[in-house]
Amino acid sequence: MTDKDNEHLALKGPRFMLAPMEGISDVAFRHWCHLHGAEVTFTEMARVDALLRGNRATWQRLMRDSTPTILQVLASRPKDLDALLRGLPDRFDGINLNLGCPGPEIVRSGQGCAMIKRISRVQELVQVIKRNGYEASIKMRLGLNAYEKERKAYLHLIDAVDAEFFVIHARHGRQSSAQPADWSVFPELVATGKRIIANGDISEPLHLQQLAGVAGVMIGRAAVHDPCVFARLRGKECDADLDEYLALAKTYKTPRAYVDRVTRHASTGVMQG
Ligand SMILES: Cc1cc2nc3c(=O)[nH]c(=O)nc-3n(C[C@H](O)[C@H](O)[C@H](O)COP(=O)(O)O)c2cc1C
Repeated sequence: MTDKDNEHLALKGPRFMLAPMEGISDVAFRHWCHLHGAEVTFTEMARVDALLRGNRATWQRLMRDSTPTILQVLASRPKDLDALLRGLPDRFDGINLNLGCPGPEIVRSGQGCAMIKRISRVQELVQVIKRNGYEASIKMRLGLNAYEKERKAYLHLIDAVDAEFFVIHARHGRQSSAQPADWSVFPELVATGKRIIANGDISEPLHLQQLAGVAGVMIGRAAVHDPCVFARLRGKECDADLDEYLALAKTYKTPRAYVDRVTRHASTGVMQG
């Protein structure tokens, strides 16, 4: 299979995306994955309130280089998001709203997975992003829990919200990454006519054939195991050397904990989230 054979995945735009991963996908890791076939990458999630408070560690997450990079934010107040976007020192290749984080504290504050039902608020945030001159995208799960998944809350949101694309992590918020992603939802999602990016357990060219009609795929843990997953999905040969990453991590002063995590999982197989 070659890049051309994969053209059924999308008519336009990047199709092979590196997932946002807190504690892993800093500028060095994103650059490394881009070298091996990721067409676009996402920053780990940045909390808008922490950025506005001037939290230094959170601002460091916003460092970028020439790698195509979308900034992922955890936001719920349009006014705060607007203030952040106006004050950003660097331009990004888009802004992504995190509607997938299932952390109890985040959900209690009405953010992350809890936003899937707050459709008009999500639409307001999307409008703020657009007014600031960015492409807006959404990353979401299939609901906060099994009940919301059954009620297909995610379809209502996709229908109503005017985002460029929707990354669907095919699990609900109560499912751990040890439980298999449910790809059976994709035909219905594709039928909405919106640009759908599939996410969850994707790692092999064969998987792409089971995801017919999606506009692209997003890869997380399999890229930590081996960034060549992108090249291989695109039908290309690839050999990634961990030393490449270590050199980038040195250049960008990647925190030790990030380097340790990547190094550990690069050799031990696909990580559990
Ligand atoms: C260590 C780790 C950190 C993550 N951090 C984020 C994050 O900051 N934002 C987000 O939307 N998803 C985050 N995720 C979820 C991934 O983006 C992705 O949706 C999930 O891992 C499923 O994709 P995969 O099976 O290809 O790994 C994280 C996952 C892992 C394993």
